[in-house]
Amino acid sequence: MDLQVTEQGRLQVTSSGAEPLVLHPIWLRERLPDAAVLDPRTGQRLEEAAETPTDLRVTAAELDGTITFSDGFATRLPAAWLAGAIIGEPAHGGHVHWDGTLDHAAFPAADLADLRRDPATLGRLLDGLDAYGFAVVRGVPLDMDGGLEFADLIGPIRRTNWGGVADVKAIPNAYDLTMTPRHLEPHSDNPYREPVPGYILLHCLTNDADGGDSTLVDGFHAAAILRRDNPAAFETLVTTDVTFRYHDETAFLENHGPLIECNGAGEVVQIRYSNRTEMIGRLPVERLEAYYAARAAFWRLIAPSSPLTLQFRLQPGELLMMDNYRLLHGRTGYTLATGSRHMRQCYLDRDSVGSRRRLLQPACLLQPA
Ligand SMILES: [Fe+2]
Repeated sequence: MDLQVTEQGRLQVTSSGAEPLVLHPIWLRERLPDAAVLDPRTGQRLEEAAETPTDLRVTAAELDGTITFSDGFATRLPAAWLAGAIIGEPAHGGHVHWDGTLDHAAFPAADLADLRRDPATLGRLLDGLDAYGFAVVRGVPLDMDGGLEFADLIGPIRRTNWGGVADVKAIPNAYDLTMTPRHLEPHSDNPYREPVPGYILLHCLTNDADGGDSTLVDGFHAAAILRRDNPAAFETLVTTDVTFRYHDETAFLENHGPLIECNGAGEVVQIRYSNRTEMIGRLPVERLEAYYAARAAFWRLIAPSSPLTLQFRLQPGELLMMDNYRLLHGRTGYTLATGSRHMRQCYLDRDSVGSRRRLLQPACLLQPA
């Protein structure tokens, strides 16, 4: 690896087989693996970055990795750190878009016993979750809180006003349509919460009534189709801020956001769809007209009759983990007279899941950013 200083005082790193990489002196300074810059234990910055002189330059680079800055600060860059800088951010695994034809054998899945025994198996499951937006865990105890045995491998569950692990079964005086035998249209959970729950863990205890199959739709796939076939509708859903509200005697929960949310790079990062709780504001009628047409176009893509809908039956002892920012989930109606359907559900925040996944990829620890 060769280090050179450019005319502008930037550091140029050249390694065999790779394009030369030019590092901005301030970018470099902010990330230096030096105890005077970053706390060695937490990696947190000790210097106030905004007070770094904006005309800072690299003035010298030695063969052994020692570099000197124009304010006199000098440090030695380890070769492994430089290699990490060249690789950059870990490559995103990429989302695999799927539809209703996805074969059951292709589902990301693992047995709880294997996940417990082997962290690498958990890492692969979380990679599969990231790629497909869902994963199935088998061999989960049929206890009321059996799902926690899997959740505990990842992180703390998200408690809500309904508690930690909640029943999903038909009950009298249900406070949510989930707890009736009614079919459930595809939806994302609780977009009225802040933050919106990141992942749903649905643990099946019994499922022997007629009906009650699970349905899933890849919302990112649906959004990609809408973007391709009806860009105006896509744009409307991305740019229209929608309110979601849940209100009963004990809670008034409200949050807002677009049905399709994109990041600064234009990539779809979150789907919100909750017919039960969507309460759009009183926008000008022309905007509402465009919104209703766009919402109808998106609904046609995610509706139960759409070829994007994947339908399957959860078995007792299985747990379905779903990305609530990507998937729409639902179920077919069921008949209580023919048996019972009892699921237990809890949430995990996105940072807990992301953290576990990153920690199971030790190579990431070398990344300078
Ligand atoms: Fe739900």
